[in-house]
Order: sequence, then structure tokens, then C-alpha cells
Amino acid sequence: MKIVVGITGGIAAYKAVSVVRAFVLAGHSVQVIATDAALRFVGKPTLEAISRNPVYTELYEGVAEVRHVALGQAADLIVVAPATANFLAQLAGGFAPDLLGNTILASRAPVVVAPAMHTEMWQNAATQTNVATLEARGVTIVGPAIGQLTGNDAGPGRMSEPDDIVAAALVVVVASGDLVGRRILVTAGGTREPLDPVRFIGNRSSGKQGVAIALAAAARGASVTLIGANLEVEVPATIAVTHVGTTAELAAAVAAAVPGADAVIMAAAVADYRPETVAAAKIKKELQGDTLKLTLVKNPDILHDVSATKTVGQVVIGFAAETETDPDALLALGRAKIARKGCDFLVVNSVGWTTGFATDGNEVRILNAAGDIVGEASGSKRAVANRILDVLL
Ligand code: CTP
Repeated sequence: MKIVVGITGGIAAYKAVSVVRAFVLAGHSVQVIATDAALRFVGKPTLEAISRNPVYTELYEGVAEVRHVALGQAADLIVVAPATANFLAQLAGGFAPDLLGNTILASRAPVVVAPAMHTEMWQNAATQTNVATLEARGVTIVGPAIGQLTGNDAGPGRMSEPDDIVAAALVVVVASGDLVGRRILVTAGGTREPLDPVRFIGNRSSGKQGVAIALAAAARGASVTLIGANLEVEVPATIAVTHVGTTAELAAAVAAAVPGADAVIMAAAVADYRPETVAAAKIKKELQGDTLKLTLVKNPDILHDVSATKTVGQVVIGFAAETETDPDALLALGRAKIARKGCDFLVVNSVGWTTGFATDGNEVRILNAAGDIVGEASGSKRAVANRILDVLL
């Protein structure tokens, strides 16, 4: 999601850094617009480093790219934290004296503001009237909290905590998302089959693509169940995760969750075989000699089984990670795989020693059951996730 974070000139501006950071860590692209006054309280280099983008202030810079309109038009969400009494008055009056004011007027995105000021200013009739005007226009006001203010005084006026602002802002976007009311089951990561108490056979899937799908679906309003097999990425507490290790555990967790799902997205890389026997104690090389022979037995094909038993209206999406580099041959493999698996869509990507697994980007083609290409995406795993969800919709 593209988020504009507006920062106005109050002492709480230093806390806006945490707001920006939380959005970035959640995988969003953040564009900070600070007022001149805000930059007296917090440094531009700090905001640029944390947001990973240039910070804009000036209305008369970037005119050739029509920046005062472009930023607002591209935004999915605008969050102003802290919002001063002066800024609330400006927004309520529809004034656009600076880049932030212009950006908000030129946007259709939801606007969330987190006021911060002294109690007297907050309780002033002018401020309260401005807040009521903004609320009537659909602006979401977060806080202010009651507590210690900058001086020795305390009372209502303290900016809400950054985590509360971020959570409230995401609720606003989720409530208007195109997947509201849909229940989506996502598998992510890679299963591991134990050989003995300390060793396993596994694969290099980190879970990044599956987790990106879960986050993107939740951000679009879906109720998401994530089954994670040995995830190497953190999952925000807002997503419910069932952790599994082996293919058998994944199969059991999927079977339990499928009946309540409108869509099943199988991004996990699943071990096709498991050791026939798992040694109760560590396998010792003195007892094995120069070679060690393992007998592997086939695991169930979860995607095939879910596709074969899906109910009317359920959509099943599989993944095919292939080492084939020729695009046509890769598609041919994808077409054969979707025919074998019986799912509704197959997301085909190429993986190798340095591509696909554990990286931040991906490049995929999406096939339907007839083998036609119905979607293509490349870029961040979040962008690819959103394209897959577009096809699902
Ligand atoms: N899959 C599954 N159960 C398995 C193997 C794979 O559910 N035992 C799912 C994966 O989650 C993925 C899709 O099937 O969505 C394709 O996985 P992939 O490993 O590419 O396919 P395989 O059937 O294992 O075929 P192969 O490894 O021979 O290419």
C-alpha cells in the first residue's frame, strides 16, 4: 500500500518516526511530507532513512512532475501525525498553503489524523468545531490520549502512541477493502522431514511470498488463516498463524482449515518425500561407514487432494516453483502441473540457486485451469501478492 505520512510542527513529531517505521516494516511504501515547522522538531535525514524515500516539504519543488497532485493521487492512505491545532483548522477550512495541504486536497484516499497539542488548545471551541467538521467529512481522528504533556501539565492532548495510530489507520483501510467478508487460507514456508532428532530434509523456502500474500489479503479486508511451515520471516501479531513442521502436519492443518475457507492459496514448498523411518537417536557415522542410504516414501499431495474435494465457490490456487529458465518450457511445465493438480489457478515462477527463494522480489505468471495466462507480475513479493489477489477476486 502507498501511504503518505504527513508530519506537522509539534514536539510529538519525533514520535512520527516510529509511525513511519511501523508502516515500512509492515511492507508498505511510505512517502513522508513534512511541513517546515515539523523539520524544526525532527531531522529530514532521520525521516529519509526510516522511510527509505526522499522527504518532501516544498510546494515549488518537483513542479515538472506535478508533485502537489501526484502524491495525493497515488496514495492509498494519508496519515497526519502529529496534527497541530493550526493544521486541523487548515484542513477543516480546505486551505492548501503547503505541499501537505495540496496533497490531501488532491487525494481520494482515506485520511487519518492524530492530533497533539496542549489541553487548552484541544478543548478550545475552534479546535473542537474543526474536529467535528473533519469527522463529518469522513476523516478519522485518532486520540489525542490523556497524559503527560511537554511541560509540567497533563491532560488530553498527548499524541496517541505510534502503534495505536498505525493500527487505527490500517483498520480504516481494511474496512474499505475489496476482500472484506472473505476467508482466505494461505500456506507459507517449506516443510521439513526429520531424519533423526537433529537433522532434516528440507528446502530453501523462507515463507516470504506466502506471508506477503497473507498480509496483502488482510490489508484488503480478508479474514486470513496462515499455516506456516518453518517460517524464516516474522509475522505481525495481527495474523493468526498455525505453525507446522512436516508435510503430514501441514496436511492435517490444511484439512482442518479448508472447510471454512473461500479461497486456499498454497504457497508453501512441500517436501514430496519423507524418510521411511526416523531414527530415535542421532545417526552416528561410526555405525554407517562411508555411505549412508536413506529410503524415502512419498508424501500426500495436499494441493491435489484439496482441489479434488473443494466445494462449489471455493477457489484453490497452487504454486509451481521450477528451475526451468526457458520461458516457454517453464509455461509448459506449469500447464502440465495445473492439469495434474486440478487447482483453479497456478502461480508459476522460476527458482534457482540465487533466485526465487528468500529474496525480496519475485516474477510470476498466473495460469488458469485451461492453461491460459490470466495474470503476470514482477516486483516486490507484496506487489506479486496483490496481483494474485486481483486474479482471485
Ligand atoms: N504441493 C502439495 N503437496 C505436495 C507437493 C506440493 O500441496 N506433496 C503443492 C505446493 O504447495 C504447490 C504445488 O503443490 O502449491 C506445486 O508444488 P511443486 O513442488 O512445484 O510440485 P510437485 O507436485 O511437488 O511437483 P515436482 O516437485 O515434481 O515439480
